[in-house]
Amino acid sequence: MLKQTLLKAVEAGAAELTRFFNGSFTISNKEGVNNLVTEADHAAEKAIFDVIRKEFPGHYILSEETGEIVQDSSYKWIIDPIDGTVNFANGIPICCVSIGIEHEGEMVMGAVYNPFLNELFFAQKGFGSTLNDQLIRVSDTHELIHSCLVTGFPYTYLDSPNGPLQVFEKLIRKGVPVRRLGSAAIDLCWVAAGRFDGFYEHKLQAWDSAAGFLIVKEAGGTITDFKGDPYSPYQPHLIATNGKIHADLLRVVNGGEL
Ligand code: IPD
Ligand code: CA
Ligand code: CA
Repeated sequence: MLKQTLLKAVEAGAAELTRFFNGSFTISNKEGVNNLVTEADHAAEKAIFDVIRKEFPGHYILSEETGEIVQDSSYKWIIDPIDGTVNFANGIPICCVSIGIEHEGEMVMGAVYNPFLNELFFAQKGFGSTLNDQLIRVSDTHELIHSCLVTGFPYTYLDSPNGPLQVFEKLIRKGVPVRRLGSAAIDLCWVAAGRFDGFYEHKLQAWDSAAGFLIVKEAGGTITDFKGDPYSPYQPHLIATNGKIHADLLRVVNGGEL
């Protein structure tokens, strides 16, 4: 029932993305210069809430546009109604609905759905990860220098040592391709599917990574913070890789050489 409701919820959210995509919708700004929220973000969030509340009215919800709906429950739904809103607002079909479910503080299920590419990623703890019902695995690349990476940049630039641009520059100067898709949830799923060998980002929120975190882990990947400790979606730093290049990417993100 949990899985069915999760899949129904991502589909209901995605139907709103499809309904508004390339049409007219209101856009407003949040904190930061181009940190947008559209009418579609709110509509998708509402459609997702409706599905969850029908089956599990007592579950705790954390969702980007509404914040926390605190309930005394061992289940917590962590929702990004549109991950990749800037893409969405510009008619770029790299965006998705992302929902992770925690049970007693542990991520147990996650789904990421991009209706424009018709790609549904799903993971359940202990059961692997799938893309449209086919099992997926991380890549087998062993060397960072031969890797294809992806990253993202926060809306408000971080001027910290080894900040996003410094790490990016170091990799690019050595000739390592580093893509920037604009959706952290999709970045994670594409690591899980072996399209990218690794992903790092300096400032994420729980809703960006909750589902993708489990999808990477269940596809055999490694996901940590910048210290190399087990990843928690409640802190900002994320490195997700195929495992083989993890130590090398961790070193570079912390200011070391390639
Ligand atoms: C953003 C995307 C982007 C990442 C940003 C996130 P949003 O989420 O995941 O790839 O670089 O840090 O905030 O605003 O589109 O939901
Ligand atoms: Ca997001
Ligand atoms: Ca969002």
